[in-house]
Amino acid sequence: MSDKPEIIYDEALVPAYELPDPLVCLDGTPVKEAQTWRETRRPELIRLFEEHMFGRTPGWLDYQRSEVLDEDSRALGGLATRKQVRLHFSPALGGPTLDLLIYLPNDIKRPAPVFTGLNFAGNHSVTHDPQVLISEAWFPEGWWNVENHQATEAGRGMAASQWQAERVLGRGYGLVTACYAELDPDVDDFSNGIHPLFYQPGQTCPAVDEWGAIGAWAWGLSRMMDYLEGDPDVDAARVALMGHSRLGKTALWAGAQDERFAAVISNASGCGGAALSRRRFGETVGSINTAFPHWFCKNFHAFNGQEERMPFDQHMLLSLMAPRPVYVASAAEDLWADPRGEFLAAYHAGPVFRLLGEEGLPSDEMPGLRQPLRNRVGYHIREGGHDVTEYDWDCFLDFVDEKIVRE
Ligand code: GCU
Repeated sequence: MSDKPEIIYDEALVPAYELPDPLVCLDGTPVKEAQTWRETRRPELIRLFEEHMFGRTPGWLDYQRSEVLDEDSRALGGLATRKQVRLHFSPALGGPTLDLLIYLPNDIKRPAPVFTGLNFAGNHSVTHDPQVLISEAWFPEGWWNVENHQATEAGRGMAASQWQAERVLGRGYGLVTACYAELDPDVDDFSNGIHPLFYQPGQTCPAVDEWGAIGAWAWGLSRMMDYLEGDPDVDAARVALMGHSRLGKTALWAGAQDERFAAVISNASGCGGAALSRRRFGETVGSINTAFPHWFCKNFHAFNGQEERMPFDQHMLLSLMAPRPVYVASAAEDLWADPRGEFLAAYHAGPVFRLLGEEGLPSDEMPGLRQPLRNRVGYHIREGGHDVTEYDWDCFLDFVDEKIVRE
C-alpha cells in the first residue's frame, strides 16, 4: 500500500470544507465598504498569496530595453501587421530576453485592443506564419518538437488551434504572445531564467517566501504590459490577459498583482489557478507541489494534505481581479483541473464584485455545456478535454467585446 492519498474523482468523496470569507479581514473586521476592500483587505490578500503560495517578487529591475527585430505590415495574408520585439532585462550580453510576437489588425482604427498571454512552445508554435522567429529558450527533454533542448522548425504552428490568431484579428483585436520558457525554463532549477537577476550576493535560489517559476512568468507578463503601454498602436487600457493551464494559473497571479490588465481569462487553470484547493478533487496541493516543486514558493508545500489550514482559497485569487472582468473556462472531461471547483471559485468570488457594484455569477448551479455566463464574472464549460479550442476563443471574444470594448 502506498501512503500517497488517492486522487478523488467522485463528487461524493469530496470532503466537507468551509471557505474563508474574502470579505473578513484577518483580524476579524468585516469588509463593508469598497474603501476597506481597496485599502485593507485587498493588499492583505495579495500579501497572503505572496507569502504562502506564489512567493514575493524580490524587487524591481531598473533595466529594460526593447529592440525591434522585425516589422511587416502585410502579415497573415494582409490581415495583420506583425512586429517582433525583444525585451532585454540585463545590459549583459547573453542576459535573459523575451521575444514578443505582436499582430495588430490592419482593418481597424488603431490603437487596437489586444489579447495577450504566454505560450508553451515558442512564438512560432502559435501560427503557421513562416516569418515568426523560433524561440531560443532552453526546453526540458521530451518537450514537443525540441532537439538538444532547442525548439525546431517542426513546431511551427503546432499550437495554432489554441491561439486562433486569424479569428482574434478578424474580430478587431491584436494578439501579443511570448514564450514562458524564455523567462524561466520549466524545471526545478533556479540558476537560469530571470531569478538570478534578483539574487543577493551569495544567493543561489529563492528564499521560502520568494517567487517560484509561476511568479517569474507572471512578472514577465507585466514587463510585456510595460512595453505595450509605450506602443501607440496598442490600446493599453484594453488588454485582456489569457492563459491556459499552468499559464492560466500564471495569468491569474499576474492579473491579481497588476491592475493594468483590463480583463483576465483563465482556461483550464485547475489546481493553484481557478479551482478551489479545499475540494481536493483531481489534482491537489500535495500532488502539484510534488510533481512541480518549482512552481510555487517553498512555503506553499506546508499545505500539502492540509488545505484547510490555508488562509485563503482560489475564489479569493479570482476576487482580486474585481471590479475588472474575469472569465473562467472549464472542459467537462478535464477532471484533473476540477471543473466544478473552478466554477465554484468563480461563484464565491461574487461577494467582492457585488461590494464593488458589479454582478458575480447568478447561482451556484453550474450551467450546462456551451451555455456561457457573462456577468462581470464569466464562466463556461464545454465538452471535451484539456485544451483551448475555437469555441473557447469565441466565448472569450464575446466576453471581452461586451465587458471592455463595447462598454
Ligand atoms: C499538469 C499539471 C497541471 C497543469 C498542467 C498544464 O497537468 O498537473 O496543474 O495545469 O500540467 O500546465 O498543462
